[in-house]
Amino acid sequence: MQIHSAIPDLRAALKNKGRVVFVPTMGNLHAGHISLMQQARAHGETVVSSIFVNRLQFGPNEDFDKYPRTFEADCAKLTAAGVDVLFAPTEVDLYPEPQQYQVEPPEIQHQLDGEFRPGHFRGVATVVLKLFNIVQPQAAVFGKKDYQQLMVLRNMTRQLALPIEIIGGETVRADDGLALSSRNGYLSPTERTEAPRLYRLLSRIRQEIRDGNRNFSELERQALVELSDHGWRTDYIAVRQQSDLQLPQPGVQALVALAASRLGATRLIDNIEV
Ligand code: PAF
Repeated sequence: MQIHSAIPDLRAALKNKGRVVFVPTMGNLHAGHISLMQQARAHGETVVSSIFVNRLQFGPNEDFDKYPRTFEADCAKLTAAGVDVLFAPTEVDLYPEPQQYQVEPPEIQHQLDGEFRPGHFRGVATVVLKLFNIVQPQAAVFGKKDYQQLMVLRNMTRQLALPIEIIGGETVRADDGLALSSRNGYLSPTERTEAPRLYRLLSRIRQEIRDGNRNFSELERQALVELSDHGWRTDYIAVRQQSDLQLPQPGVQALVALAASRLGATRLIDNIEV
């Protein structure tokens, strides 16, 4: 696997490379990321990944400094997964001057996760557009685990007419249902035992909806109470339309149940398509 940190070196390495499929990451890779690399391989000739912990998408009270940086182990995993090229810029490579031009996503950036992480989706959209301009891939893979991020990036790509196919990668789960996440490492052993409750509740909501229950606010309320009874502090639990994450309109069937909740100091997010 080639590794480049400077933009001109990466561009030179990608000249005449056939169909490039890109998987951006912030590192601390787990099996969920590796499955995105495998999907990328199935969609193109050259798989490019990036590792960059993007300061712009972290709020002042979030875990930017604490975010796990495991570069050597990540490189070994990417090599084993058959990734061809890794772009691993420093902050100076990617933001040599303050990033004053930024992408302002629409109103949805202030809802769901955005309500609790002001500026997060602006930071994500800005870095991803910049990475797209640097790598110039034909396709890019993002995990469905970050469903709102995937939706924002898919709609940004479409509305700005970027010639890039956006592919949603399925969430990889532990045997007990917990979605794999870099933040799972923060959980204590007791919290780790409790954590799969989030997935079980989302699965129950999906089953209720499949059985014809469209009283979404009551389903959300019941899940909220159960989480709170077991010590969780919930930011949101919501049933939305898959396409734009707006409230479900009558008759719309493609829905998604999303949640973000805190166990101790760890904020977990998850979702299930219905
Ligand atoms: O999902 C992530 O790891 C990040 O939000 C991304 C897409 C790499 C942008 O920094």
